[in-house]
Amino acid sequence: MCGIVGYIGSGNVYDILIKGLHRLEYRGYDSAGIALVNDAGKLAVYKAKGKVHNLEEYCNDKPKEEAVAGIAHTRWATHGEPSDHNAHPHYSEDGNLALVHNGTIENYQLLKDALIEQGCTFKSETDTEVLVQLIEYIKVKNDCSLLDAVRKALHEVVGAYAIAVLEKDNPDTIIAARKSSPLVVGIGDGEFLLASDATPIVEYTKDVVYLKDEEIAILQRGKPIQLVTLENEKAEIDVKKLELSISQLEKGGFPHFMLKEIFEQPKTLLDCIRGRVIDNGKKVMVNGVIDNKLKFIRAKRIVIVACGTSWHAALIGKYLLQDMCKIPVAVEYASEFRYSRPVLDNNDVVIAISQSGETADTLAAVKIARKMGAFVYGISNVVGSSIPRETDSGTYIHVGPEIGVASTKAFTGQVMVLTMLALSVAQLRGTMTDKEITEIAREILTIPEKVDNILKTLNEKVKNMSLIYTYARNFLYLGRGYSYPVALEGALKLKEISYVHAEGYPAAEMKHGPIALIDEEMPSVIIAPKDHLYDKIVNNVQQVKARGGSIIAVVTEGDDLISQIADHVLEVPKVSECLTPIITSIPLQLISYYIAINKGKNVDMPRNLAKSVTVE
Ligand code: F6R
Repeated sequence: MCGIVGYIGSGNVYDILIKGLHRLEYRGYDSAGIALVNDAGKLAVYKAKGKVHNLEEYCNDKPKEEAVAGIAHTRWATHGEPSDHNAHPHYSEDGNLALVHNGTIENYQLLKDALIEQGCTFKSETDTEVLVQLIEYIKVKNDCSLLDAVRKALHEVVGAYAIAVLEKDNPDTIIAARKSSPLVVGIGDGEFLLASDATPIVEYTKDVVYLKDEEIAILQRGKPIQLVTLENEKAEIDVKKLELSISQLEKGGFPHFMLKEIFEQPKTLLDCIRGRVIDNGKKVMVNGVIDNKLKFIRAKRIVIVACGTSWHAALIGKYLLQDMCKIPVAVEYASEFRYSRPVLDNNDVVIAISQSGETADTLAAVKIARKMGAFVYGISNVVGSSIPRETDSGTYIHVGPEIGVASTKAFTGQVMVLTMLALSVAQLRGTMTDKEITEIAREILTIPEKVDNILKTLNEKVKNMSLIYTYARNFLYLGRGYSYPVALEGALKLKEISYVHAEGYPAAEMKHGPIALIDEEMPSVIIAPKDHLYDKIVNNVQQVKARGGSIIAVVTEGDDLISQIADHVLEVPKVSECLTPIITSIPLQLISYYIAINKGKNVDMPRNLAKSVTVE
């Protein structure tokens, strides 16, 4: 949510920043801007509403070659509509400072009123402009350095921030700081990069430092990086090596990141399983579980917190953990959990699921759960992100960077990790026999190939079928048991990228209300693999058909009952019930992708959305 890039060094500052903005555009794309400073002390800010290429066009005839340092931003609006004047960077009133910001300053109105009383005027509606004015006000009033002014200002601020500040008269320095919003510094050869995540950094250096909350980085030309706390105490510099390659950040011949990521799943699932299902399926080793076995053996309850797609994975996790480990599981939206006055103690295990590892609500839920004494386990994709750092232990899903805003490969990775985690806990608690565990584990090893076959056999079919459904204005997605969260996820995917209304429902709940919506204009997507609820869902399929609704059914190969009733049938291979969610979600991803493409939507950057939701 909002992307920040900064650069200081001998490279072409403008080119490096623009390239970085393109890499971060998935985090927000309603406006973009750049601030450049040169050795003569000229600080220029250029901004444009819309995507980064609008900014590039705007900058075409602007002077930028002499810049020696710069900061840039791509925005997802929180305070003030997307517009040129609300875009970052923001200047201080006297033009001495420029600042970019990700996060929200909760007490900005209070601070703004106080600054207005002191005679400050504002050009934008943003909380960010308040922060830059506050820093400059403190700097002038106390006649102090930029670093001291930043420290003092951040003491006044309530909320979340990742910031970078540039000073007109000090082109050798960028000051950056974070609290609850991510910021990474790349240490190159005589140069520093700064970014909201490592994607703009990887082509220049693999050496990075992830800033911690309330740390300030001082990046000076020709000097080593310095880190201090808000209290001006030296902070430890922990340099990590990036395990990221540039090819992972490119489309690799696919028209969109989303399609690339859908097609990557055979490989990403293999990466996710590697080293965890071992000895040809004889054993399941999830290290975070094994290392904390007493916590999982003694747990009286598991609470899973997450948002969006990750919350759907959490619902599947509930079925898995209850079935395999015989342990009660509650699933909570992190945003509700954090304000629900939760009741937790040290007999609880809390699992937080987050692809980005930065989602503000999930991060807050993690902090609350730990404070209350629960053992907190994270499932994330982004190495070095906040949630893995704030949890007691956890597992990375290892599916590589997910750039498409609509989550696909991360979802199947999350479900795969939850499946292996449940098997690992079942092993420890003795709730499954070795034979049962081995059977599922062996089957897990076949899943990447099965996903590959689904993609090969269904891609063209779904593409053609999608033409028939492109102009439907409402969809119902129905499933039971493990297929119920899959239905929710299928509906969310369609909504997000095609802007078509879609509702996911437990199939049996349909008759308690939503059935009233069904007519020949409202298709239902029914997820009905051969599982223990198959006979039950057949009835629900009949109920839809009896009301004239058309049906797209995702069924197990060889199904001869639903296949006769449904208008379109998408067959997937037979797998054990606990593994059906991964298999059945693949055709649903393709349905949403192709319907959105037929409608001419930007599937990688759908309107109003951003990849990493670092605000409440
Ligand atoms: C949907 C989607 C979102 C995220 C949600 C949580 O395709 O991607 O619903 O799942 O914003 O994000 P993470 O998993 O990063 O916490």
